[in-house]
Amino acid sequence: MPVKLLIVGGGAMGTAFLAGLVESGWAPAADLAVSEPDPSRREALAASHPGLTVGDGPIEAEGAVLAVKPDVAEGACRTLGAAGIRRVLSIVAGLASERLEATLPPGSVVVRAMPNTPSLVGAGVAAMAGGVHASAADLDWAEGILAAVGTVVRLPERQLDAVTGLSGSGPAYVFLMAEAMIEAGVMAGLTREVSRTLVVGTLLGSARLLDETGQDPATLRASVTSPGGTTAAGLRSLEFKAVRSAFIEAVAAAVERSRQLGR
Ligand SMILES: NC(=O)c1ccc[n+]([C@@H]2O[C@H](COP(=O)([O-])OP(=O)(O)OC[C@H]3O[C@@H](n4cnc5c(N)ncnc54)[C@H](OP(=O)(O)O)[C@@H]3O)[C@@H](O)[C@H]2O)c1
Repeated sequence: MPVKLLIVGGGAMGTAFLAGLVESGWAPAADLAVSEPDPSRREALAASHPGLTVGDGPIEAEGAVLAVKPDVAEGACRTLGAAGIRRVLSIVAGLASERLEATLPPGSVVVRAMPNTPSLVGAGVAAMAGGVHASAADLDWAEGILAAVGTVVRLPERQLDAVTGLSGSGPAYVFLMAEAMIEAGVMAGLTREVSRTLVVGTLLGSARLLDETGQDPATLRASVTSPGGTTAAGLRSLEFKAVRSAFIEAVAAAVERSRQLGR
């Protein structure tokens, strides 16, 4: 009897999907399987999700999530095709759906997605695009899986390099900003612990304010910037250091790198 979904790769992302799918009620662990070569990872996954099927190699399933590193993805996908799996959601960075389609029997469905690391705590954001054989039902299926670990947007596949440079690499930009702000707090005389608490709270709170009010960031920024005040002085320094332009250049460089890696 095939399971509802096979997760190929029990690493960081595969484990996050497993937890999200079970916790969100998409499927109980007994309807899921993970294929993973490392025996200790398999044991840990089976212990934390009673009823889960684990194995090394193909397991009969109605569909699969491909969550292995790019260098082994085509080989792993070929194994899925040989095992009769015809519907694959790939989260492998930089690998075009047509390359995966070429490893599967003709007519097989590939949906490609680019999630990001906050998926590990169920707060990711992912963009997804269907390959040539993906129907509306296939896209709904893929969106249901991705929604277990965060927010999902649908885009044409040609825009996935832009997504990679923006939200795929985006957490690293935010972590760099957090590092710098914590350091700045320490330099201003706060303990590292207090500085971290204030910075993490500021990031979380600002993100929620953006999300929950729906206001654009320029309006929210203006609302905390009194004429001639402290925030105005801080922003003047950031503009002098061309921070806005630095973000634009960072995303452009990451998008270009994603294009190069995908060639
Ligand atoms: N982490 C992210 O934020 C993120 C974001 C977007 C996209 N992605 C993509 O998600 C994919 C997985 O990333 P990750 O961070 O989860 O990597 P990871 O932690 O290294 O997980 C990959 C897992 O797949 C296993 N594996 C290797 N070959 C396999 C095979 N033939 N069949 C089944 N499992 C196999 C690996 O086992 P061994 O270690 O024993 O080889 C490892 O446990 C990557 O393609 C990455 O580009 C990741």
